[in-house]
Amino acid sequence: MYVCLCEAITDKQIRDVAKKYQVTSLKGLRQILPVGRECGKCLKQAREILDEECAIL
Ligand code: FES
Repeated sequence: MYVCLCEAITDKQIRDVAKKYQVTSLKGLRQILPVGRECGKCLKQAREILDEECAIL
């Protein structure tokens, strides 16, 4: 499912980055993926997905 339509980033990409790079913050995620770079509407959902992934790690 697409989370960020502007940059065509999926929830799977966010989960994969969180796992691979042990990313726990939105700031860290954004250093790897350009999520939220345009309109920013996706940031809340990106944060929720990251939090879910961190809970699993
Ligand atoms: Fe992510 Fe617009 S939907 S920046």
